[in-house]
Amino acid sequence: MTFTTKHYMGDPHFGHMAMLRFQPKTRPFSSFEEMDQAIIERTKERVRKDDLLFILGDFAFSKDDEYVRHCFHELPGRKVLILGNHDLDRDGSVRKVIAKLPWYQPPTHAMSTKEDGGFVWLSHYGHRVWPGSHKGSFHFYGHSHNNLPPTGRSRDVGVDVPDMGLGPRTFAELIKNMVGSDASYLDEVEALTQEVAGILPSDPHFSLAVSPAYFSILQEALRQINDLIVRADVVGNFEITNVMVHDGQLYIRPRYRDYPAHLISMQQEIADIIGFAEAQADEIHWKENGDD
Ligand SMILES: [Fe+2]
Repeated sequence: MTFTTKHYMGDPHFGHMAMLRFQPKTRPFSSFEEMDQAIIERTKERVRKDDLLFILGDFAFSKDDEYVRHCFHELPGRKVLILGNHDLDRDGSVRKVIAKLPWYQPPTHAMSTKEDGGFVWLSHYGHRVWPGSHKGSFHFYGHSHNNLPPTGRSRDVGVDVPDMGLGPRTFAELIKNMVGSDASYLDEVEALTQEVAGILPSDPHFSLAVSPAYFSILQEALRQINDLIVRADVVGNFEITNVMVHDGQLYIRPRYRDYPAHLISMQQEIADIIGFAEAQADEIHWKENGDD
């Protein structure tokens, strides 16, 4: 089996004259034909015949069906369309000229594809969460023309984003500068995983005994840790999985799952939160607890 390179780009808007006005910085051309030719040239430079080319929506906006077909056939690679608003008729059906193009697979509203670094969720619109987002999957979107900033492992791959260079990019190129995708984080991940594992034992025989008065303090600490993790786009989720009353005390069992694939260093912040909670709730203590 030969290795197939995948390339991604959104929003070419072939034949869409108004794009010259909307995106003057990235499309400094005097006609849409020039604009389209530039996108086609960039694509030809980067994509080989058997490569997969994922187009993340808004392929074309033109009444000239022949011209739309021309642009399609000028593009190299096996082409996959993730549908954008401009690819649909008002009733939501795929525009006829688009539907009839020889796509490598039928156009779809969203899909997942596999890359070396994990799964990538592709859709025209940027999502806040997506399949596998809490397990390290990536998300590429279009539609926003560089107006929706990247967050964590999601980013705009429209051709109007500066590092797209008006053409498609590979997964490795796309994630290069994304928060948390840098390989240098991995050491920090390991260190922090150890740190957090020390704070919140994942051993099912551990739980936390805390008097009811302090339950909310600890709950708040866990919530803050969770917030930190979400802000840092760390794969992980602390949760209280078990609460019970025994001998007048609340027993809660904080656990974390899927922790973590990568993250920025935040050991000090976590230590501060735990320290604050402990200072307020000196009755909080860890204890080995096999009797529940
Ligand atoms: Fe769009």
